[in-house]
Amino acid sequence: MDDNNCGCWAVLKRGVCKSSASRDSANTIPRTSLVYDTATETRYLNASNRELYPPNEAHLSSDNPDPPPSDNKSPCQLLQFTFQELKSATGNFRPDSILGEGGFGYVFKGWIEENGTAPAKPGSGITVAVKSLKPDGLQGHREWVAEVDFLGQLHHPNLVKLIGYCIEDDQRLLVYEFMTRGSLENHLFRRTIPLPWSNRIKIALGAAKGLAFLHGGPEPVIYRDFKTSNILLDSEYNSKLSDFGLAKAGPQGDKTHVSTRVVGTYGYAAPEYVMTGHLTSKSDVYSFGVVLLEILTGRRSMDKKRPSGEQNLVTWARPYLADKRKLYQLVDPRLELNYSLKGVQKVSQLAHNCLHRDPKSRPTMDEVVKVLTPLQDLNDLAILSYHSRLSQQGRRKKKPEGSQQLSNTQSKSIRGSPLNTGKQRCR
Ligand SMILES: Nc1ncnc2c1ncn2[C@@H]1O[C@H](COP(=O)(O)OP(=O)(O)OP(=O)(O)O)[C@@H](O)[C@H]1O
Ligand SMILES: [Mg+2]
Repeated sequence: MDDNNCGCWAVLKRGVCKSSASRDSANTIPRTSLVYDTATETRYLNASNRELYPPNEAHLSSDNPDPPPSDNKSPCQLLQFTFQELKSATGNFRPDSILGEGGFGYVFKGWIEENGTAPAKPGSGITVAVKSLKPDGLQGHREWVAEVDFLGQLHHPNLVKLIGYCIEDDQRLLVYEFMTRGSLENHLFRRTIPLPWSNRIKIALGAAKGLAFLHGGPEPVIYRDFKTSNILLDSEYNSKLSDFGLAKAGPQGDKTHVSTRVVGTYGYAAPEYVMTGHLTSKSDVYSFGVVLLEILTGRRSMDKKRPSGEQNLVTWARPYLADKRKLYQLVDPRLELNYSLKGVQKVSQLAHNCLHRDPKSRPTMDEVVKVLTPLQDLNDLAILSYHSRLSQQGRRKKKPEGSQQLSNTQSKSIRGSPLNTGKQRCR
């Protein structure tokens, strides 16, 4: 069965949904908390570290502060936690249970009982990730509402599951399913062991399915913050999108785009969106292309530590993507020759198409999924090809035994053209 069909699309209403299990009980978000407050919004918009333009330079804004409707028929089953419950669940927000920190605040590991909101002993019940908004949060209440609003109603194997929330005085917390392997960012850039090629493909495909689901629903959603730190991984490297704080309802009917304030993360946002504020699902496709390049190269989308011509990944990679003979020079050197030859060709071509300057020429996420799906089964590893060519040469030249062993240095020296064992051209 196609994963895309596994998702659940509740009709999106622009408001935080109530827990159906506890409707009309105290276990729902108080209505007053749902009204967007101009002061809060202004603080968020001015202070967000992810905003690309200061508010007064923003190109039009339809990020409307409409209060959400009161008739929410969504089937979401979010739990409402008390602050005390989450404090106990995380061992008083112990520093050693911190999983990470983002613009919203710290994310803690915690445990809750299987049925309900009660805290559980560490190692028992259900493991959760608790995200707490900084008291003086940069991204603030508005993102918190968007997160509950979208994730409370969208259900798909490639979207992280929001279990519940806490809203108490100034406290804003979110409770998610715990993703054992953390973020793709950690695996690509912070670990010494390189992420194997097959896992990279699996992760890219899962994330693509998540985006395809968002774009393909009756009321499309544009994610707007697609990046490696927002792709979380379970124990089997299944990827799930997290962070819907910047998500936005897509254009409806005859409309080609929504006009909105430019938010996102440097290095990932589509150029036409940054220039005009016109948002379409193709903006997400561009960001997907950037992430695909990061997966292929092991380089960050923006890296100030690199020489000036290499700091912006897309700018650096474009000439390689456009030249089939140079493709292999893009591959993460830490993979050595442990990658699929055809896979690299297809992934590079796909990244190139996703990064097309004309948004209309970019593929849809459904098309991306179709390209990535067969790449999971490719076994044409560059190292096998290298060995077989070495042995052919060896037979021709009657080389002594043992010359087929590939040393580290050898593998690095031929990285630019893995099919070359001499003067042969790279196909
Ligand atoms: N559900 C989860 N399970 C396990 N780890 C998580 C979970 N959610 C977040 N994390 C960890 O916490 C880190 C911080 O997440 P967070 O979403 O707050 O910030 P970010 O994505 O790094 O940055 P930004 O605020 O710009 O989105 C993640 O990179 C990840 O390592
Ligand atoms: Mg995040």
